[in-house]
Amino acid sequence: MTQSAGSIRFILNDREVVLDSLKPTSTLLDFLRLERRLTGTKEGCAEGDCGACTVLVGRLSGDDLVYEGVNACIRFTGSLNATHVVTVEHLAAKDGTLHPVQQAMVDYHGSQCGFCTPGFVMSLYGLWLSNDNPGRADIEKALQGNLCRCTGYEPIIRAAEAVAQARPNAVFDPILKVRADVRAKLAVMRSQETITISDGDSTLIIPGSAAALADTLAAHPMATIVAGSTDVGLWVTKQMRALNPVIFINGIDDLQSIRRTEDGLSIGAGVSYSAAFSAISESYPAFGRMLDRLGGEQVRNMGTIGGNIANGSPIGDSPPPLIALGASVTLRSTAGQRTVPLEDYFIDYGRQDRTPGEFVESIFIPPLPKDDRFAVYKISKRRDEDISALCGAFRMTLDRENRVMDARIAFGGMAGTPKRAKTVEAALIGKTWNEETVTLAQPAFEIDFQPLTDWRATAAYRTLTAKNLLLRFFLETSGERAEIKRFEVVA
Ligand code: FES
Ligand code: FES
Repeated sequence: MTQSAGSIRFILNDREVVLDSLKPTSTLLDFLRLERRLTGTKEGCAEGDCGACTVLVGRLSGDDLVYEGVNACIRFTGSLNATHVVTVEHLAAKDGTLHPVQQAMVDYHGSQCGFCTPGFVMSLYGLWLSNDNPGRADIEKALQGNLCRCTGYEPIIRAAEAVAQARPNAVFDPILKVRADVRAKLAVMRSQETITISDGDSTLIIPGSAAALADTLAAHPMATIVAGSTDVGLWVTKQMRALNPVIFINGIDDLQSIRRTEDGLSIGAGVSYSAAFSAISESYPAFGRMLDRLGGEQVRNMGTIGGNIANGSPIGDSPPPLIALGASVTLRSTAGQRTVPLEDYFIDYGRQDRTPGEFVESIFIPPLPKDDRFAVYKISKRRDEDISALCGAFRMTLDRENRVMDARIAFGGMAGTPKRAKTVEAALIGKTWNEETVTLAQPAFEIDFQPLTDWRATAAYRTLTAKNLLLRFFLETSGERAEIKRFEVVA
């Protein structure tokens, strides 16, 4: 029996879509390919890695209309209310004239088998819309989330550089022309009312506000909350899990705020990594540099720090720097709000300090004192778009005599939860910050952590790397040089 209230409305290329019936785990990729026969968008990995499924999603951000590349394979259709979805079919003019980013891919031989090409084109188009004059670094960042296995990247990058250098003035562009119109339509579609779509077997709910989310969770305490779906999407595409009910929170304005004051930085649980990037990079540059290596651009456009915390993964990349910075998390339910230090939120593997009916509402990060040393190190097999084997964050306060007054060191990938290295910290505090102190403190990592061996790294590698990262932190923050030592890795 259907008990729906409202419908999901969005714009797909130049048509409005209204959905009164929808499974909560229906993906955008399936919707495009199977229901709308827009088969230009490809399925490669179905887990947010290869970028073959890249489409642009335009959303309102205040009065602005922002277009971002996303992975359609792990994006649920239910999360698209009040957005503009743009697929590769929409780029060329009606007479068949290719868009400049498409033409450049032809001119610079950026395609061979062509399977990855629509995804690359859409990522380049996203860059075209957001950056008038991208440099090589911007181009590489825009393409981090796209893999090509036959052409190689140089011709694609040459195509991107050519478009950037000779950007035609008068050109058909499907978005620029209709921007004002789209903005007005999305504003009308944006609902403050809770949308519920149910077919009797499964239900999806889109609360209109944080208060409505609390009420919804009180009624459905075991519901799955989905923000960016960069993790939950894989539960569906890889594990074939049936989720019911599902609550989508990415459209809730109350959870989208970024507030920076003298007291610190507050980030709503619905804010994507991309949206939080500038504020984090300005206040905590080392954290920002690490975010550049978290997933690809599409994943950063979808994923949220709130989700990275809420799911409690021991290898999430944002908890270590947040814990080192002394961040706290605010949880909310119909009973009210409570704030806990982030390090206390992670209780054990798969267990967080969050009761049924509670949700992560925001994260607060205190300011980093000007003279504090702070570094974040992500260790993974590939530089880009890889899950960490371990991730370490170090923050230290020194006095005028170069003594360690305070140290906060936190790691992911070393235990069942993101965790502080308290024994290492204790071995440093009060000591002079020099290589001897580092050498004496390094064995304490073995007391703080007993990591696992898995396909990303052995336990011995993780422990040795954590010790060496402390030395790296010392070298980078003191400007000293160290003799390169050889360590035996004992399996
Ligand atoms: Fe590979 Fe979506 S199909 S990222
Ligand atoms: Fe074949 Fe890129 S052109 S995978």
